This record gives sequence, structure tokens and C-alpha cells, in this order.
Amino acid sequence: MRSLLFIPADSEKKIGKALSFGADCLILDLEDSVAASNKAHARPLAAAFIAETRDKPQRPKLYVRINALDTPEWERDIAGVLAAGPDGILLPKARSAEDLAHLAMALDHAEAKAGIANGKTRIVVLTTEVPVGLLTMSSYLDSSTRLDGLTWGAEDLSAQMGSSATREPEGRWTSPYQLARDLCLFTAVAAGCQPIDTVYVDFRNDAGLAEECRVAARDGFTGKLAIHPDQVATINAAFTPSASETAWANDIVALFRDNPNSGALSLRGQMIDRPHLVRAERILLRAKLAGV
Ligand code: COA
Ligand code: MG
Repeated sequence: MRSLLFIPADSEKKIGKALSFGADCLILDLEDSVAASNKAHARPLAAAFIAETRDKPQRPKLYVRINALDTPEWERDIAGVLAAGPDGILLPKARSAEDLAHLAMALDHAEAKAGIANGKTRIVVLTTEVPVGLLTMSSYLDSSTRLDGLTWGAEDLSAQMGSSATREPEGRWTSPYQLARDLCLFTAVAAGCQPIDTVYVDFRNDAGLAEECRVAARDGFTGKLAIHPDQVATINAAFTPSASETAWANDIVALFRDNPNSGALSLRGQMIDRPHLVRAERILLRAKLAGV
């Protein structure tokens, strides 16, 4: 999933166009983009969209962002959407993998009730929205077989921290938010799931988004959350391996295939060893998934 686009689930208009944007994943949001008074209205809209879309060919992945586990809403969210068969749930404001385990258990029950195969509903966790989430990151290692990705958020965290800004004037994250980002990246890779970068809220600034995507992809993130349809193409492009990257990766794989007994080799004047082969294989896998 290179691009994961939020769709406020109380908006019939936004849901109606959602399939046309080219996102790899649509996240039907029942949380912060939906007012408390609209949540009951949003759940059946999300469920109907998922049920109608599920069997279409070439469809994006369909996720639902539920409300946080310390609210009374999240169980109604699961009850309202699970039988429609979403591909996954985005868990916000997670405090640790205990919240993930709690959600996974609720999904065990909901899947059994709906006649859905156990474990089919995947989970992506929003890891840094509450301060304690930064201190419990390692709990996600070996946590749940449902875990498909970790992402992070700065907006809710900054509200709790009382920070007056999350970015320096030129756009770089300030130190606490850079730490949150980096911890999420390390933890997702260590946990063997997808590292997904957070939203870029300045949605009219395409150059700023492109630069943030470039840096994220360079560092190891493999996808990014989106809030506006105009962000999808930029994100997809940035997280698709380029022709020169795939050519480099093919050369590395061929080099090791042709020299099965060598540990270190040389290519275009550079020393190449096992870590390069691992990177090359990951690039080729991402290129294959992106269809290039
Ligand atoms: N999903 C689907 N459609 C969207 C969309 C989204 N996330 N964001 C915008 N659109 C649609 C608009 O409805 C509009 O449709 P129209 O041309 O038929 O009128 C079109 O895209 C252009 O939108 P635009 O006028 O540029 O933006 P806006 O002012 O209507 O909306 C936001 C701006 C930020 C409110 C909107 O992008 C949005 O709701 N984003 C998601 C917010 C969210 O889910 N936040 C939670 C995660 S942080
Ligand atoms: Mg939020």
C-alpha cells in the first residue's frame, strides 16, 4: 500500500468518488474527521461502500479507522462494519500492543459471528498519537499475526504535549516529532510490517509533499497516509521504485546469481555484499507489487 487515502465516512459525496482517485488503500474514517453526532450515520455508509466494492476487480484495499479503545464508540464501529468484510482496521491512539491485542480479540469474535475466516481482517496501528505510545513501541515486536503496518501521527500528539508547532519554519519536523517518526520506522521494520509515513496536512503544497515523500521513501517508509485526492499520484510515484532503482536491483541479483560463491563483489566501482542483495530483493518485490 503506497497511498492510503482517508475518506470521512459520513460524506456520501466523498465516498461516492473514492474509487476514482487511484489510491492503493481507502481508509473509511469513523474517528476524528466525523463529528460525534454523525458517527451513527457514518457506519452504515462505510459498510455499504465496502460491501458494494469488495468484489470489484482491481479495487483498492478497504480499511476502516475505528474510534480509540478508550471511547464507547469503537465497539459500535466494529459491530457496524465488520460483516461487510473490510480488509483491515486502522487503530488510532494506540497506547501499546495491549490495545492491539484487545482489538485482535474483538475481531476474533466479530469474524466468528459474521462467518469470516479468522484472521482475515488485518490491522494497521497509529502508534504515536498519545505520549505513552512512544515509550511502549517495542511491544509491537512479535505482537499480533494480524499486524500489517505501523504508522504515526503528530497532530494528536502535539495537542497532548502542548507543543505550539510540530515543524520548523522551513517544514522539517521539530525534534520530538522527528523522534516519533523515526521510532515508528524502526519499529515497523523490526516487527516485519509496513512502515507508513504520516499525513502531510498542507494539501495544496504539492512540492512540499513530494519532498516529504522523497525523504520518507529514502529512509525506508514504503507508503504514506493521504487526506486529499490530489495527494495520491504524488505519493504513488514517490513510493514506486524508479527505473534506475529496479535496474540497479536487477544487476545486483544477477551478480550474485552469477557468482554464487562470492560474499563481496564489485559493481560500477562500488563494493557490493549481502545487505545490498537484501535491499535489491526488497526493491524488486515493491516494483512487482506496484506493477512496474
Ligand atoms: N476523500 C474523497 N473526496 C475528497 C477528499 C477525500 N479525502 N478530499 C476532498 N475530496 C473531494 C471534495 O469533496 C471535492 O469534490 P468536488 O470537486 O466534487 O466538490 C474535491 O475532492 C476537491 O476538494 P477540495 O475543494 O480541494 O477540498 P475540500 O475543501 O472540499 O476538502 C478537506 C478539504 C481537508 C476537508 C478534505 O480533503 C477532507 O475531508 N480530507 C480528509 C480529512 C480526514 O479524513 N482527516 C482524518 C485523517 S487526518
Ligand atoms: Mg487524530
